[in-house]
Amino acid sequence: MNKNIVILGTQWGDEGKGKIVDYLSTNSSYVVRYHGGHNAGHTLVLNGKKIVLHLIPSGLLHPKVIGIISNGVVISVSELVKEIEMLKRNNFFIENRLFISDAASLILPFHITMDIVREKKLGVNAIGTTGRGIGPAYEDKIARRSLRIGDLKNEKNLSIKLKKIVNYYNDQLLSIYKHKPFDYHLILKDLLEAKNIINDMITDTTIMLHDAIENKKIIIFEGAQGSFLDIDHGTYPYVTSSNSTIGGVITGTGVGPKNIDYILGVTKAYSTRVGNGPFPTELFNSIDSYLSKKGNEFGSTTGRKRRTGWLDGVALRYAVKLNSLSALCITKLDVLDDLKEIKICIAYQNVNTLEIYHNISFSNLENIQPIYETYTGWMEQTSGIKKIEELPKAAKNYIKCIEKIAGIPVHIISTGPDRNDTILVKNIFL
Ligand code: GDP
Ligand code: IMO
Ligand code: MG
Repeated sequence: MNKNIVILGTQWGDEGKGKIVDYLSTNSSYVVRYHGGHNAGHTLVLNGKKIVLHLIPSGLLHPKVIGIISNGVVISVSELVKEIEMLKRNNFFIENRLFISDAASLILPFHITMDIVREKKLGVNAIGTTGRGIGPAYEDKIARRSLRIGDLKNEKNLSIKLKKIVNYYNDQLLSIYKHKPFDYHLILKDLLEAKNIINDMITDTTIMLHDAIENKKIIIFEGAQGSFLDIDHGTYPYVTSSNSTIGGVITGTGVGPKNIDYILGVTKAYSTRVGNGPFPTELFNSIDSYLSKKGNEFGSTTGRKRRTGWLDGVALRYAVKLNSLSALCITKLDVLDDLKEIKICIAYQNVNTLEIYHNISFSNLENIQPIYETYTGWMEQTSGIKKIEELPKAAKNYIKCIEKIAGIPVHIISTGPDRNDTILVKNIFL
């Protein structure tokens, strides 16, 4: 059966999407990154060996999988080339297996500088971006002045377009931020060097995907970030600049909604957020230190400490609706192993009006405080467990409660960072 799957995050990113994409890729022919850029950091662990991917689809460690970086992604070609080389050094060869959309917009050095200087100027009001130029690159895309991957193919046009946009940024960087100007010759030289390496990968990935669908190939669409970092549905303005909810798959690839058969929401057994912005269930006590240490909650891209909190059931229910989720994958269950008590937020209360909300939009979370339900911890080791029957009773109960709160089943449980530390509750390819 042709079963095309979307795997996306239901929280604020870093849910463990990369691990699950890698795990499920055994059954797929194609894996597609469809939005975001190298702000993502997806960690894969294979027999103890750790690989962090930022742009390259997480299925590519499987030697027969074809990877696609589609039109919705913003691409720094120099970062892409670095990642290809990193994989080579680790004996993963992706020649003839990675394809890049000619319609994807480029991230260029001045986008990164602009991201950084703007954040600096915002001071305490900064978004806490990854500093990878994501916002400015998407701005250019929407303003219709982007250079796209396809532009690399025509050196003369590339040079003309690049000169124009470098001037545009230099004017702003100099007048507003007193930043030294960029030399377009140097950027052009770097682009042409990178182009030599990726030239044969550049193609119309939309047509490629349509062909794959006609040929009944199985495709995994790999989400980056998480639902509440979505530019429209997240905690605006503390969000990223793309649609990390389900719509991003459609616009970011050119594949229609009828070609998606199953949507898996990856949910950490607790919550984390890196960067600034609302986080209703955030913890500031010894539980934060515990989750941070036991869960190794430090950013895969920037190394920043992730903020931690209890699982937010209100947010999860909202993510289920925003994304039409078919089922959930619960990750990092093992991180809760040593806790006597575990909490889930089941509703929000407005501290002024005392009104209670079971469903709420994430665009306005002012004056909201969480109402919790408390569960008994299992106080036993679950790390590495591969069968649901082997989970302690209290852990199974915790999963059941999540299913009830979310209103959808849990099909996968992750009990450790390694590909094999996984419980397949239901074979989703059947
Ligand atoms: P992504 O951005 O959603 O792919 O997630 P990240 O890779 O940024 O962060 C997830 C972190 O948790 C990584 O360090 C993973 O190796 C690790 N991880 C994933 N699943 C599990 C799990 O079930 N248990 C534990 N202990 N670690 C996990
Ligand atoms: P993965 O795919 C966690 C956050 C940043 C910041 C906000 C905007 O690994 O889950 P940006 O650089 O995108 O303009 O930053 O979004 N952010 C992420 N947080 N995981 C990610 O990706 C993220 N990508 C961006 O920390 O709060
Ligand atoms: Mg990550």
